[in-house]
Parts: sequence; C-alpha cells; structure tokens
Amino acid sequence: MARSSTRFFCKNCGHEELRWLGRCPGCQEWNTFTEMKIADKSAKKGSRGFSSGSTTARSRGFGTSGPGTSMSGGLRPVPLAEISSADTQRLTVEPAEVARVLGGGLVEGSVVLLGGEPGVGKSTLLTGLALWWMRNGIKVIYVAGEESPAQIRMRAERLGFDPDKEPGFSILAEVHLESLVDALREEIQTNANADDEQKDHSPTVIIADSIQTLHSEQVDSYPGSPAQIRFCGGVLADFARQSGCPVFLVGHVTKSGDLAGPKLLEHMVDTVLYFEGSGGEAIRMVRAVKNRFGNTGELAVMEMRADGLFPVDQAGVLFLSGRRGMEPGSAVCAVKNGSRTFLVEVQALVSPSRYGTPQRVVQGVDGKRVALLAAILEKRAGLDLAGCDIFVKVAGGGRIDDPGADLAIMTALASSLRERPVPVETLVLGEVGLTGEIRQVSDLESRLREASRHGFQRAILAKPTGGKGKSRSRKPGMELVPVTSVEEAVGLAMQPMPRRSSMEEG
Ligand code: TYD
Ligand code: MG
Repeated sequence: MARSSTRFFCKNCGHEELRWLGRCPGCQEWNTFTEMKIADKSAKKGSRGFSSGSTTARSRGFGTSGPGTSMSGGLRPVPLAEISSADTQRLTVEPAEVARVLGGGLVEGSVVLLGGEPGVGKSTLLTGLALWWMRNGIKVIYVAGEESPAQIRMRAERLGFDPDKEPGFSILAEVHLESLVDALREEIQTNANADDEQKDHSPTVIIADSIQTLHSEQVDSYPGSPAQIRFCGGVLADFARQSGCPVFLVGHVTKSGDLAGPKLLEHMVDTVLYFEGSGGEAIRMVRAVKNRFGNTGELAVMEMRADGLFPVDQAGVLFLSGRRGMEPGSAVCAVKNGSRTFLVEVQALVSPSRYGTPQRVVQGVDGKRVALLAAILEKRAGLDLAGCDIFVKVAGGGRIDDPGADLAIMTALASSLRERPVPVETLVLGEVGLTGEIRQVSDLESRLREASRHGFQRAILAKPTGGKGKSRSRKPGMELVPVTSVEEAVGLAMQPMPRRSSMEEG
C-alpha cells in the first residue's frame, strides 16, 4: 500500500480541502466535509498514466502522442492548425431518442456519466443499448459491479436477447479497479493483435455499472466514498481517452443526496445524462445536463414497459392533463428542451389561507421563481395573493426550466384566483421581467408550429421588438395576440375565444 495522506472532500460537490471546513466554499452547503485517506500523489501517477501500453489508442488518434509530444518526452506547445479535427467519430445509437440526447451518437473515446436514483432504469437502458450495438457488430463489455452476471443475463433475456444467436455481449464481473483496467487493456490488445478478418474495427463500448461499486487499492477508503469515486472515475476516463473506447459510468443519486455520487465526476466526463422517473409512473426522462459533443438540455422521453424502455410517440403533448376542459387554474405553454418542443400544462390552485403562514407548494417548477412571479402579479397586476395558499404543478410529472413559461405560470395563478378559465385553445408564451414587461421567447416559430399542430388556435405572446405586429395577426391556423404587460396578458388569456368569423377581422 502506498503512503497515504488525509484530505477532506465535500460530499455534495466534491470540493477538496486540506482541512475540515464547516461550510463548503464550492457549493456553500454546511457540514458536508468528510475525511478521506488517499494514496500519495507520486504513487498514483504511475498507475494512472497508462502511457506505456495502448498502441491501439495512438493509432486511433486518441493517444497522447501526436504533434507536440515527442517520444523523447520533450514538451512544446502545438499550433492549433497542426491538430487534426477528424477524431470525433460517432458510433450510431438506437433508439434515436437516446442518440439525440448524446448529441447524435456515441463519440469514440468519450466518457458518459448516467446518473439517477436506484431503480429508475439505468441498467435497463444500457442493456438495451448494448444489445443494439451487439446486433450491429459493435462489441460491448458490461462491467458487473452491482448485479451478478446471471441477473444481467436475465435482464437481457427480458429485453429480447437470444443467447444462441448473439455473441459479442461480454460480462466482466470485477470491481477491483486495477484488475478491471488490466483485463480491459488485455481485451483491446488481443483485438489489436488479431489478424484483419477477426479484428473489430470499431472500438468496444465499456459499461461500468456502477461506479459506486468499484474500488482501487490505491485509495484508502470504502467503495462508493468520494475519494474512491473520483479516483476510479478518473482512471476509467483516462482509459477511455487513451484507448478510444467509449465508457459509460453509471452513478446512483439518492433522493436525500447524501451520497457523494455522480456530482463528483461531472467535471471529468464529457457527457452527463440524468435519468429521471416521474413519481411512480412508467414515463422516464433522460436529460443531458452537460455535453461536450452536443446540445445540453436535450430530453429523451421513454416509457418503462415489461420488456424494456421504449420511446414515447406523443412526447410533445405528454404534459397536458387528460381532462382539459374549462376549469380555472390551468394554462398551457410551449417549452423547449434542447431541440425539442413540448406543450406543457401548468396548473395552479390559489385559495385563502386558513392557517397563519400562507403555503407555497410547487412541483416541477422552481419554487423561488413562482414566489417571484406571484410578487410581480401582486405589484403589477393588482392581484391579492399575499393571504393565499399557492400550489403550482406541471401536469404529467414534467419539469420546466424554460423562462418562456413565466407567463403561463402567472396566467394559471390569476385564473385560479379569479375562478375564470383560460380557453383550451389558448397558448400563453412569454418571459416576464420584474417590471411586469413581457419578453419574447426564443425560437418562437417552432413553438407556435407545435401548438398549431395540436389544435391550439390562439397565442398570447410578447409584442415583437421593432414596432411591427402591434395588432392581432393570424399565422396559418393561429391567432397571435401581442401583449406588453402582465395585466394585459392575463386579462386577454382569460377572454373567451371569439367566433371564427369575428377573429378573421381582428
Ligand atoms: P433497473 O434498470 O435495474 O434500474 P437501475 O439500474 O436504475 O437501478 O430497473 C429498474 C426497474 O425497472 C425495476 O424495478 C424493474 C423494472 N423493469 C421493467 O419494468 N421492465 C424491464 O424490462 C426491466 C428490465 C426492468
Ligand atoms: Mg442498475
């Protein structure tokens, strides 16, 4: 065992300090530091370098050799022009829903972290992807840390795996990091040495399920501890970059968040996907929160069935409640998640508070944002919300981060307070400023198109900048009602839809 020293890590964000602190300078959380014994840096270096092996990596262009690192070890800065840019080869991924979240495919040599609560479906998703790759001639090694190989086979059979016809999906039941990396390197070396006919020309996909179960002998703490997660994650990330093999790291996040978990790894991986389940329902969402090779904010909507995860056809309208009628307290907006547009129904319930302090309960939207919007409604539109309990929720278990939903949240609140419904064909779009002004949303065209496709006939939205579009206008199938203030917007949203003939004139 190497010499060890003591460090302190924040369990929340992974911030490292030499001494214990009450409050983390990284994430400002209190009492999150834990003490870890870690191996001496000089001991780490030798094993993390991997520089001696991996000739395949260099031949793929992912290695450390190249312009600038001469073999004699001299180091010089490299002009950008000398660096080749052709290295982002992508493996195709199916279903397309998942490919989009990954930025169009899985980049060779990249590291993807898939985080989520236990039981949400991480292993199911990755087994499904593994089967698809296997059937398309791409080798997969599934590192079984959490389940036995038999359990993984059972899951694969549930997803349609045929053991007699389908080789190429291998399990590696090893949680000791050093042995695991040795085994992986050996696999790659064997492939590199094979003659051309038997050689796999695409890199092997490695799935480590989960990072919390791996442990290195160079770190003196228990598996799943912040120090172990950081070290094992770092070694596997190095391995991916040098070998050209894409690596998936599965990481559990608990509801309470006390396990250090995947947060620690976010900065060292290329892509971070979070798997969200919506409160016991079968709908699951995979969200890209970081992606060096694609759009962040992309969302894949999937359904967990008895035989695996399947993309949802009607994802665009998933967040509209089934019972949309003329009830007060509901407004629909179109939000963007990466390149996709979703129609989302915001529901609000406002009622006089019977107890001392009025309650503010929200689900699927940021509580602080709702408090802010309620304050703007009071000040700018004269609504008396101070003595009321406020409940806000997104139908269908969705979550909204898009500021373009501001006006819909406010309209739902006003509609509930005044007991006046917003007509079902009305879409409300706009970001709201502190002075109550309505601002235009990004990518208006695609939002209107999606709404129009689903039968919406009127949109309340910000007046376009530049003076044009003062009055109402019609897009194909859609009446556009430009507004400048919250008060005006909320009033107009609750106006009953006029008959078609009168709309044409307006
Ligand atoms: P799992 O992928 O094991 O979750 P994780 O790896 O994130 O911990 O699966 C979680 C749940 O999904 C489990 O309760 C069983 C269920 N499930 C299905 O409904 N259908 C399936 O085809 C599979 C494989 C699992
Ligand atoms: Mg699992």
